[in-house]
Amino acid sequence: MMLVVVLLLLHVCGSARGRCFCQVTGNLDDCACDVETIDGFNNDQLFPKLKALLESDYFRFYKVNLNKPCPFWKASSHCGLRDCAVKPCSPSEVPQGIRSSSHNKYSAEANKQLDECERAQRLGAVDVSLSDETKEALLDWSKHDDEAERFCVVDDEDSPDSQYVDLLLNPERFTGYKGPEAWQIWNSIYEENCFKPYSVKRPLHPDSFHGGSGGEARTFYSWLQGQCVEKRAFYRLVSGLHSSINVHLSARYLLEDNWFQKKWGHNVSEFRQRFDSDLTAGEGPKRLRNLYFLFLIELRALAKVLPFFQQPSFHLYTGRAEEDEKQKEQLLHILQLARSFPLHFDETSLFAGDEKEAAKLREDIRLAFLNISRIMDCVDCFKCRLWGKLQTQGLGTALKILFSERQIEALPLSSGQRPSFQLSRQEVVSLFNAFGRISTSVRELKNFRSLLAEER
Ligand SMILES: *[C@@H]1O[C@H](CO)[C@@H](O)[C@H](O)[C@H]1NC(C)=O
Ligand SMILES: *[C@@H]1O[C@H](CO)[C@@H](O)[C@H](O)[C@H]1NC(C)=O
Repeated sequence: MMLVVVLLLLHVCGSARGRCFCQVTGNLDDCACDVETIDGFNNDQLFPKLKALLESDYFRFYKVNLNKPCPFWKASSHCGLRDCAVKPCSPSEVPQGIRSSSHNKYSAEANKQLDECERAQRLGAVDVSLSDETKEALLDWSKHDDEAERFCVVDDEDSPDSQYVDLLLNPERFTGYKGPEAWQIWNSIYEENCFKPYSVKRPLHPDSFHGGSGGEARTFYSWLQGQCVEKRAFYRLVSGLHSSINVHLSARYLLEDNWFQKKWGHNVSEFRQRFDSDLTAGEGPKRLRNLYFLFLIELRALAKVLPFFQQPSFHLYTGRAEEDEKQKEQLLHILQLARSFPLHFDETSLFAGDEKEAAKLREDIRLAFLNISRIMDCVDCFKCRLWGKLQTQGLGTALKILFSERQIEALPLSSGQRPSFQLSRQEVVSLFNAFGRISTSVRELKNFRSLLAEER
């Protein structure tokens, strides 16, 4: 009997599907939860509700400054593409309002002339068009936005460079942004902002990868194991974010690009490049586990922040009272659902500890996170920058919530006084949209599981 099970496992794990997902099952480290429970909970219950909420006006408009200079190095003038020799494009040259919605109107002639650089510009450009009606409403909203105590870097919303972006017009998907510039972003995040000493090489680092001996991976993971649970969590969150972004790019890959249509869809081979255990020296399944870990952390934050949104003074203000009220109900319903998820973290092990130590840890993590959000201003591709900023801000907000448990619990008692905890509109929008991305990724894994199963 045992033998049959083992043989069966070996068989499944040898397939393409197995090499991505075989180890992505069962319990997650540092948590009493298992992958299958998360899949069921997310795909059947949470995801559809969240998706509807994020399509509402309150959540689809995000105010962001995409024009901040990179504070760390001279940003490339090659629009993030290696083979971009024809026309170098500095960020200032990239027209703000390149309309991705007008792509299909390009004539065949014009399309032929687009070199790869321009193509990447188009794909990476952010559509900032808004209807006049929306513009007017937004003026009202900004007056309504609450003052907030800031945890991670948020753009100055009053800066003339900050503008509203319609997230539904600018989906996160393949943009052609890769190569050394994209690599540099993630490399500086992992190497300089994850508490890791330079001497410990991370697995698959190009400078350290000698035919996959596995020695470096072992050194790395034993270093990671020696970290306190919060710093270990921090690394896994960053890795989970990276995985989520890659799941999206593989799920909304540009499959066809000609003058009469663009077709976006699943690219299984791209997915395997990033997550197949054979092709990634065993890293792929770990990356996917980190994605689930990130899901749980953000879910935990949503469960914890419920009292903030329950305050009668909180509104999802867009100026249409009836609709705003309905959306708020929907939001509370989602947060109650998050609360009902049975397998949360062991509270005593994460973000707890004695008060002085916790304060120090909070500050360390806050600073590291702040710095990561500044690195996002170095991303050359504007659409990637938009989603990078939104997702780091959302995760930063989730961490702020997890570190503010006591303040949030004190909220109902603090009526009349200065509230003990506050979130700005920008933080609220990024928190839910960032979680929406992770929830979508978990849902996409289901698609990739079946696509891989068909492959063999
Ligand atoms: C912030 O990140 C940059 C780029 O990775 C790095 O050079 C710098 O040392 C970091 N600063 C802090 C305070 O961590
Ligand atoms: C899928 O991605 C791979 C790279 O991983 C690429 O070579 C291939 O052309 C893509 N397939 C399609 C249909 O675009």
